[in-house]
Amino acid sequence: MNSLDEIFDSITDSPIFKDREKLLPDYIPERLVHREQELTRLAQTLAVALRGERPNNIFIYGLTGTGKTAAVKLVTRKLSDRASTRGVRLYPVYINVRQRDTPYRVMSDIAETIGLRIPFTGLATSEVFRRFMAKAKRLRGIMVIVLDEIDFLVKKHGDDILYKLLRANEELENFKISIVGITNSISFVENLDPRVKSSLGEEEIVFSPYNAQQLNDILSERASLAFKDGVLDDDVIPLCAALAAREHGDARRALDLLRVAGEIAERQGDRKVTSRHVMAARIEIERDRVVEIVRTLPMHGKLVLAAVTAMTRGGKNKTTTGEVYDYYRKLVARLGIEEVTFRRVSGIIGELDMLGIIRTRTISRGRYGKTRYIELASSYKPIIDVLAEDSSLEYIARNLEEVINASENSRSL
Ligand SMILES: Nc1ncnc2c1ncn2[C@@H]1O[C@H](COP(=O)(O)OP(=O)(O)OP(=O)(O)O)[C@@H](O)[C@H]1O
Ligand SMILES: [Mg+2]
Repeated sequence: MNSLDEIFDSITDSPIFKDREKLLPDYIPERLVHREQELTRLAQTLAVALRGERPNNIFIYGLTGTGKTAAVKLVTRKLSDRASTRGVRLYPVYINVRQRDTPYRVMSDIAETIGLRIPFTGLATSEVFRRFMAKAKRLRGIMVIVLDEIDFLVKKHGDDILYKLLRANEELENFKISIVGITNSISFVENLDPRVKSSLGEEEIVFSPYNAQQLNDILSERASLAFKDGVLDDDVIPLCAALAAREHGDARRALDLLRVAGEIAERQGDRKVTSRHVMAARIEIERDRVVEIVRTLPMHGKLVLAAVTAMTRGGKNKTTTGEVYDYYRKLVARLGIEEVTFRRVSGIIGELDMLGIIRTRTISRGRYGKTRYIELASSYKPIIDVLAEDSSLEYIARNLEEVINASENSRSL
């Protein structure tokens, strides 16, 4: 019993954190440094809602972790506060369409914002839309619909629902809809249907990546809310900022590094967070990312990755699609399952590259054609651990370990 008390006692007083939640990804800070221009444009565009006019639709593009979601949530929250003090009828709705990943769910959220009750299933999406329009026609007010990570919706389900929503104003009189679309996918921007693009992009705001100095400022601001005074070594924030800046200026990444560094220090019973904790945090985060990706791969994705791991000897060499395919076939034969074609394996290699777990580079070899070289982009250890979680793949995982160890031993000879 005593030890339980000790655990609970030690939890109540963290020597490191004052308020750890201030570093969590979904916390929206009151101030966003280095986003003054973007916030101003957003606010100016949406502010006309306060005098009953429809704001222009806004299309927001920027790489991951550049503050798009935080900025839009901050501005729409302030806008709704203002609307209620002024007695303006504003209906804001924020939908992350990666989480609410069908047109039905998106339409339900929108319809429920004006007080309709939509069952979980059982209706056609077009029926939900019809009910929404029928009620909207009888209302007065402005609806601001934020569709975050909008590429997920369109990629999976086409742009039908988006198109309908963009056109809805034509049928409405006293109720007006404006749409804020957010994405970090450049290919989405390039492939968007021109008619959707022109109406969604009445205003376009681009969020550029942060540089190391800006990340430094962002982290300092958040650190003062989250950490106790004096627990951060001077080089901790600059190091987190520099590491994240190297990877395209992702503030989420920088904040994660800082938070996990603090958690590691706390776990280890240290009173100060140092650069050593940051380096450990980096490894832990990378490991978690790899584990997450590998776990969700389908069977043949796992096998192709296993083949890449084997043929690169755990990441020390490069390999080719042909070699990977041959090894993959051996694995499939051993498991006694049906194999996929060379073409499909080649496609899976491309997908693993997109997920960032391997790297490929195509090199032209003159009249011998082109060769695609494949490398592992991460440490092999978490890959093997995750493969071993699946009982049918455990044997393969152990085998991989042997292949890699053998190559290590032959090196040291
Ligand atoms: N200028 C800033 N000041 C303070 N915190 C920031 C700033 N920009 C981003 N952040 C924080 O960084 C994290 C990532 O930001 P956000 O979620 O808004 O990124 P995003 O652009 O929406 O990325 P994604 O495209 O991956 O969704 C959040 O925790 C956010 O609060
Ligand atoms: Mg976001």
